[in-house]
Amino acid sequence: MIDRRAGPNKDQGNQFVPSDQAAPPARPKILATYPMPARVVEKLRSFADLTVLDGETDPQRVLDRCLGMDALICTLMTKVSADFVERLPESVRILATYSVGYDHVDLKAVDGRGLPFINTPDVLTEATADIAWLLLLGAARRGWEAQSMLREGRWIGWEPTQLVGADVYGKTLGVLGFGRIGRAVARRAAGFGMKVLTFQRRPGSGEPLPDHVELRGSLDEVLAESDFVSLHLPLSEQTSGWLNAARIATMRRGAIVVNTARGGLIDEAALADALGSGQIGAAGLDVFVGEPNVSETILAAPNTYLLPHVGSATSSARDGMGLSLASDLEAFFAGRPMVSQVDTAA
Ligand code: GLV
Repeated sequence: MIDRRAGPNKDQGNQFVPSDQAAPPARPKILATYPMPARVVEKLRSFADLTVLDGETDPQRVLDRCLGMDALICTLMTKVSADFVERLPESVRILATYSVGYDHVDLKAVDGRGLPFINTPDVLTEATADIAWLLLLGAARRGWEAQSMLREGRWIGWEPTQLVGADVYGKTLGVLGFGRIGRAVARRAAGFGMKVLTFQRRPGSGEPLPDHVELRGSLDEVLAESDFVSLHLPLSEQTSGWLNAARIATMRRGAIVVNTARGGLIDEAALADALGSGQIGAAGLDVFVGEPNVSETILAAPNTYLLPHVGSATSSARDGMGLSLASDLEAFFAGRPMVSQVDTAA
């Protein structure tokens, strides 16, 4: 009798292979442009042959390594332009970005090519909202100046007029963009006794608003009435340079700006001027135009609290991002529906 639990042909030796037995499906080949957390690598290797590059951002070199690959996992450091999409080898059947934002990807080109495209929503919401609050508090309470004074040995002791910052408790926070991260930032504001103002393109959609959140009729109204503003808009042609000199002039004098979304939402030269004149009291920025370069204008501006794009940098968020991509890729190659496919036609 054949013992089927112990695998095929156990008691018949190795020489017998039934000719009608299908060959196991080939393992998909996946290319990742950056090293990823160990749990993510392990999950991807459980169903695919994975090649990991050492932080490759050059589009041509990424394209060269895509030859014969079934999937590409890139990050926001790779510009997925129309030209890039056009030159992707035919073998690539799905594109993934290790980010929730996808302004680095030409969606029209991806859609035109019929490539499924996945990203990493949800799993980084709370981590990013925490960083928005670090920036808000760091900017308001002059965190960077205080650190520098202490570390550089310039602290000569407590003084009544030393490092006096802005109050946060009880102030008004404008949340510009009320998606997942904007809502999570707004939720934290309740603990600071803050009133939150926001604008929703489709009021009444999504969860009901908490009591401390009030709607205004436009983003501009929110901007004009807030002591703090936190940006959570997607970067697009419509929102590029949205916070410009004209809008900054409508803000409360001394208001504080926080940005964890994309650097391109802000006209950095206008922000630097406004920090210089005091129209903007301080800015907490995690994102910049032209990352990883940060403009001299921003570096030289007073009253800034700057971080190197670390919104999602916690182990649960970064693991979660990769595991979400991995489980969608596994589903894709098994012909099952995916959870985080971006609607490229929208
Ligand atoms: C980071 O900025 C992301 O979009 O995930």
